[in-house]
Amino acid sequence: MSATHPNLHDLLARRVPGQALEQPFYTAPEIYQQDLEQIFYREWLYAIPACQLAKAGSYATLRVGAYNIVIVKGRDGEIRAFHNSCRHRGSIVCKAREGQVAKLVCPYHQWTYDLDGKLIWANSMGPDFDPTQHGLRGVALRNLNGLIYVCLADNPPDFEDFARQAEPYLAVHDLSDAKVAHTSSIIEKGNWKLVWENNRECYHCSGNHPALCRSFPLDPEVAGVSADGSISARLQAHFDACAAAGAPAQFRLGGDGQFRLARMPLQETAVSYTMDGKAAVARPLGRVAKPDAGSLLVFHYPSTWNHFLPDHALTFRVTPISPTETEVTTTWLVHKDAVEGVDYDLKRLTEVWIATNDEDREIVETNQEGIFSPAYVPGPYSPDWESGVIQFIDWYAAWMERATAPARMAAE
Ligand code: FES
Ligand SMILES: [Fe+2]
Repeated sequence: MSATHPNLHDLLARRVPGQALEQPFYTAPEIYQQDLEQIFYREWLYAIPACQLAKAGSYATLRVGAYNIVIVKGRDGEIRAFHNSCRHRGSIVCKAREGQVAKLVCPYHQWTYDLDGKLIWANSMGPDFDPTQHGLRGVALRNLNGLIYVCLADNPPDFEDFARQAEPYLAVHDLSDAKVAHTSSIIEKGNWKLVWENNRECYHCSGNHPALCRSFPLDPEVAGVSADGSISARLQAHFDACAAAGAPAQFRLGGDGQFRLARMPLQETAVSYTMDGKAAVARPLGRVAKPDAGSLLVFHYPSTWNHFLPDHALTFRVTPISPTETEVTTTWLVHKDAVEGVDYDLKRLTEVWIATNDEDREIVETNQEGIFSPAYVPGPYSPDWESGVIQFIDWYAAWMERATAPARMAAE
């Protein structure tokens, strides 16, 4: 095996559980391409909060690897997703990241599509042209309690298991009553798996996140996953108290480790991610009756982690850009009737995670840089503090082993 042509099967076969991956997993274009094809092009991906598309004709575009999609709200209120590629000669139809249109008009020769994707105007295409055969190609979409997920696969995998388990946790947050208070998109110069590894542990928090540590607890049980599934009495008491207040909280790991749901406590006196730990929004989003319920932490590999608090919510989207670049988009959601400057101050609402994201960007980039060295060898994860990273890497390795198994068998 050469460094330029790493063999994924061999690398997976010789992986040492509990250790970081070998260099090519974080650098090689061939493995990045496999990650796209086997994971991002097949799985359900979180795209946007539904409330981002406020009116009929509101749209958002999203690039995932080679794909470009447009998510648009119809006049019937339905949100649909399409491949953002014109059925004439393939041009991108919607160029902006987001916008508001009456119809989707291709910039090249102005073929015009209705908001439901049907082709409604194409000039001089001759008598035999059938517009009904040239609508925009649809992309699978699900609206999970106000969170829009899309899937690029022609035959999407099951979404119901996750949806069924997540719905009761999300319901109490009333995301249908939300509006976007702020969005930030940053590029981290690191492989998407390094972004996730960093997210799945708080071993680095005390040394890197002074603002976040004012409210987020330095407790490995909050970020991690115990190997045997056990939960401490203290945490169980928190889950029970939240459930009694109508906010489901119990730790759940599902989908062979693809997703986790758990409402985790914050630092003792904190109720939100603010510098003083107090609520950021006076008019809360949702009906969590227990102010110290903490943060409902939801991750769903490979595209999203989220924090749902009693007063507001945060969604994070992870989009790979290249083998060593990843976009992280953070969206702050507040109640649609909360007024900026009255019910919340935007700086106060966003400053902790803007700082935290930037700190995470820097440590991910520094991690990536060190992995580029020919002297890099994978080191061990801390079993106490990095159980979440171990869980993520085990999920990734198992997924890739499964996904590439038929090819391996055919090749043998
Ligand atoms: S490519 Fe879209 S109208 Fe020609
Ligand atoms: Fe971090």
